[in-house]
Amino acid sequence: MKIISICNQKGGVGKTTTAINLSASLSQKGFKVLLIDIDPQANATSGLGARKNLLPKNIYHVLLEQVSIDEIIKPTKINNLYLAPSNLELIGARIELITALGREQKLKKAVEATKQLFDFVFIDCPPSLGILTINSLVVSNSALIPLQCEYYAMEGLSQLFNAIELIKQNLNPPLTIEGVLLTMADYRTRLTGEVIEEARRFLKDKVYNTIVPRSVRLSEAPGHGEPIMSYDKNSQGALSYNQLAEEFILRNSKIYNKLEQKKPEETKEEAVQTEANKRLESSVGEKRGIGENSNRQHKG
Ligand SMILES: Nc1ncnc2c1ncn2[C@@H]1O[C@H](COP(=O)(O)OP(=O)(O)OP(=O)(O)O)[C@@H](O)[C@H]1O
Ligand SMILES: [Mg+2]
Repeated sequence: MKIISICNQKGGVGKTTTAINLSASLSQKGFKVLLIDIDPQANATSGLGARKNLLPKNIYHVLLEQVSIDEIIKPTKINNLYLAPSNLELIGARIELITALGREQKLKKAVEATKQLFDFVFIDCPPSLGILTINSLVVSNSALIPLQCEYYAMEGLSQLFNAIELIKQNLNPPLTIEGVLLTMADYRTRLTGEVIEEARRFLKDKVYNTIVPRSVRLSEAPGHGEPIMSYDKNSQGALSYNQLAEEFILRNSKIYNKLEQKKPEETKEEAVQTEANKRLESSVGEKRGIGENSNRQHKG
């Protein structure tokens, strides 16, 4: 199981859109994926069609240790994709956790206790570097950072990298940067080209080759409670997020391969990892075999 925080303290850069659509694309490729919504705005929850007001328990109750995460996880319309929903109540957790013992570790405790087995867990973070994002980064193996192609795109990025470094040093040593994703590219403007160039210059191979263009269909899909893959699977947005999923798989298969070479003896946890690795490898193998067809779908 690999846990990935989707974070950027800047608002509206495409965190939730990426969380929903990358999760959905990986699910359609046969991976078992959990999306944890840890933002009080609960956009990932509604974007996946869950009726926020009809869910009596959500991630707020998990963080306060009133229920286990297993009790709130719901299947979604997409095969293999599960959701741990959020709700506006979560605003309260930010205050209630201030005085709680081990307040940075609440989500970690909750996720470790889950009996559900997932290949990937994505966490959709709120636009801040507060206690909720800290909880997310403490439990994660890596952070995936969406960056909007706009003025001052890179502003605040050093603050985010500093926060990640601090968490790495003090609370979660294995934490890495998964990748930086450029979003809402509008190739008609010179600005988009400039942001892409600047991001690549400073962040080098951390930046995904995949760039998500601005697309009306992508912004419409959450209103229908659907990922772009089911809302309009032939749209440019769907193609882009499928391509991102392929790139994500490829990067991770390389990491898994390195890990395997280092550790000949397999513990139980590693056995699960190896299982995910096999799926990664077959997925990459298929990619090589099929060629450029990045929009194929696997049965679940
Ligand atoms: N590639 C895109 N093309 C067009 N619209 C997009 C794209 N990506 C995201 N949007 C829209 O932009 C808005 C912000 O996106 P999103 O909610 O994913 O950002 P966010 O970083 O999660 O925001 P917040 O910080 O408020 O949680 C939404 O209305 C979304 O539908
Ligand atoms: Mg969001």
